[in-house]
Amino acid sequence: MNLPNLESARIRTSDATIVKRNDYIVPEDMKQIGKGKYYCLYTYGCQMNVHDSENIAAIMEDMGYKRQEDMENSDVVILNTCAIRENAHNKVMGMLGRVKHLKETKSDLITIFCGCMAQEEGISLELKNKFPWVDIIIGTHNIHKLPLYLKETLKTKEQMMEVFSIEGDIIEGLPVKRDSKYKAWVNIMYGCDKFCTYCIVPYTRGKQRSRLPEDILKEVKDLVANGYQEVTLLGQNVNAYGKDLKIHYNMANLLEDVAKTNIPRVRFVTSHPWDFSDEMIKIIAKYDNIMPYIHLPLQSGSTKILKKMGRRYTKEEYKELFYKIKKIIPNCAITTDIIVGFPGETKDDFQDTIDLVNELKYDLAYTFIYSPREGTPASIMKDETSLEEKKKRLATLNELINKYALWNNQKYLGKTVDVLIEGPSDKDNKMMGYTDTMKLVNIDTNEKYIGKIVPVKITDVKTWSMDGEIIDD
Ligand code: 5AD
Ligand code: SF4
Repeated sequence: MNLPNLESARIRTSDATIVKRNDYIVPEDMKQIGKGKYYCLYTYGCQMNVHDSENIAAIMEDMGYKRQEDMENSDVVILNTCAIRENAHNKVMGMLGRVKHLKETKSDLITIFCGCMAQEEGISLELKNKFPWVDIIIGTHNIHKLPLYLKETLKTKEQMMEVFSIEGDIIEGLPVKRDSKYKAWVNIMYGCDKFCTYCIVPYTRGKQRSRLPEDILKEVKDLVANGYQEVTLLGQNVNAYGKDLKIHYNMANLLEDVAKTNIPRVRFVTSHPWDFSDEMIKIIAKYDNIMPYIHLPLQSGSTKILKKMGRRYTKEEYKELFYKIKKIIPNCAITTDIIVGFPGETKDDFQDTIDLVNELKYDLAYTFIYSPREGTPASIMKDETSLEEKKKRLATLNELINKYALWNNQKYLGKTVDVLIEGPSDKDNKMMGYTDTMKLVNIDTNEKYIGKIVPVKITDVKTWSMDGEIIDD
């Protein structure tokens, strides 16, 4: 049994990252263990988790299990959890309640709890003491060991808790079962060393460690060979890519090399304003297949609050970067993340955020009420703002964000834009896809265009989406 530990999770040494290439093993007697059986997988949180789930799915299928949505008739239930805010945590705990009911009537059900919540000290103790029926608890560093843990659990029938608060290695050679045949997530780095004061990620995901360029490029080239239209390069802070490598190779170099594979679309998330280099901006502008869309988290428009958040930039520096991007890549859509109600945020600080949003007019923003995370420096900062006031600030901000989202979308009306058609939309008989600038478009057409990038004329715009028609349909 290995429990997570906050103190260890905080440690950063100068030790070189180890790349492990042969650590994923499915024991011979586990290769058919899931034959005729089903697993059900719930994913919470960010794209990183979504992609981890694609690995988990492939691992399960390497053992013969098949995936299904129906939890009641599954043999294994997996929760891939998120720790970023209280509401993600609450959703997982709600689901755990449902799984508990099922386990009461189905004692041979196997339950697996993994992802960022498993890395939290408090949660691990709760699972150990109050949820002893959860069979396997694994953290973010060792999902590749799942077949070994499952083997052990089937033998001992005891709770298996294997969570490591370590800086982490790079595990190559994990199988992947991608959700889409056209769009792929590609990890370029893991972990984060920024330690923004509100954020749990550096504790749950370990140190920043970049995959080797040759491994990333091989993955992308294979995707191109298999007809993929789009890759999204994934990391908590992709602009810092390469800083931990012993070679001179950075995010601009990687973007250029990925663009040269001729994959039709290259995207990347998430960017921290701190590491956004001029070289990167030039490369994005230079290659038509690097999409003009940047997610550039602001977090707050108040320099005082940014400092308390440990963000390492001022309001002015952020603005300078924003305008530089818009100047060099004029058609670039920029979206952001904003936290309201951070400890010490006064009405004036909040007004700074509002003023900045009014000035920059984001294409879209993901907005959150600050949520204290145990063990982070911000969680012990004095916070005198009431929840009611925070909710009011969020509503005010959202109204403004929506106004500019619509305002930005209106510029598309009557224009023709390229859309990668992904599949049926939630709306009847329509197909959906995204523009190069990441605008969601619903299109009145049939399946024949799925997986293709086609010119679409925008006929109507709303706050969150647009309608369009394929011009040569
Ligand atoms: N409370 C609220 N929002 C948070 N985020 C990260 N940590 C917290 C927290 N403790 C937000 C940030 C980040 C996004 C992924 O989630 O805005 O960019
Ligand atoms: Fe969290 Fe900051 Fe790292 Fe992003 S850059 S994952 S907000 S610590």
